[in-house]
Amino acid sequence: RTVAIVGCPFSGGQPKLGVDQGPIHLVEAGLISQLEELGWKVKFDGHHQFEEINAAADPPIGILKNPRLVSRVTEAVAKAVGAHAAQGELPLTLGGDHSLAMGTISGTLMKYPDACVVWIDAHADINTVETTGSGNIHGMPVSFLLGIGSKVDEFSWVKPLLKADRLVYIGLRDIDAGEKKILRDNNIKAFSMHEVDKYGIGKVVDMALDHVNPNRDRPIHLSFDVDALDPTVAPSTGTPVRGGLTFREGHYICEAISETGLLVALDIMEVNPSLADPASVKQTVAVGCSLARSALGETLL
Ligand code: ARG
Ligand code: MN
Ligand code: MN
Ligand code: MN
Repeated sequence: RTVAIVGCPFSGGQPKLGVDQGPIHLVEAGLISQLEELGWKVKFDGHHQFEEINAAADPPIGILKNPRLVSRVTEAVAKAVGAHAAQGELPLTLGGDHSLAMGTISGTLMKYPDACVVWIDAHADINTVETTGSGNIHGMPVSFLLGIGSKVDEFSWVKPLLKADRLVYIGLRDIDAGEKKILRDNNIKAFSMHEVDKYGIGKVVDMALDHVNPNRDRPIHLSFDVDALDPTVAPSTGTPVRGGLTFREGHYICEAISETGLLVALDIMEVNPSLADPASVKQTVAVGCSLARSALGETLL
């Protein structure tokens, strides 16, 4: 099997500088050779170069920040991921901020219309134009993919191909009031840290897969925001929230999804090497690499 690394040095979905350096650090930490050691053929043709749009040419639409830039970059990512998937390769997208998932999941659904999405995050990233308080598009990609909230012309390329019952969250603990209502109104399955505490991660992953993939026959897109992990585990990220997944809980999710044999695309998002001290950066980058390895078949024994 071939894994195609889609390096996305992009930060336009949120205001903190540095998250665009995440993919560069992940590759420099040795991710490619680590995946080769697991038996993968790794395709990497360099980090994607995205067109730049200066701020003057990209004023907010409503309160959405950098809308044209985010739209064009994520559309390019959708095409890149879709093209790799079409060739039977497994796209591993390295972020960059989580707005990129608008592109990665669109790309996956082009090739695998019946795919389900497992979204690992402290946040639901499901704000709409109506509910976003920050205007940061990394807090909104899921609503665009589902086609909820009022439409923004600039994002007309995003097709609402994701069904609410094909999406499941694990790790949530910082959800805006408007997002809670969206989750409820659309009957979206979510396992917050409360459920992780109550049932344990093993049972939570089983229940999550039973919901989106009851017969274990649908392709799986795993979108992993490293801020799902506790800040003591992954400190170098833009929106850390205490009370997160342990190192093992995060890796268990990846291992269990790998074991299904159904993984078709993986995102590792929101590693920001310019936040926190050098040791914390190194630790966060190493965790990003090891999550990817676990999802791609590394086992403990
Ligand atoms: N809910 C907040 C917002 O809409 C935070 C989103 C954080 N998202 C992320 N991908 N880290 O701005
Ligand atoms: Mn490529
Ligand atoms: Mn998050
Ligand atoms: Mn996120």
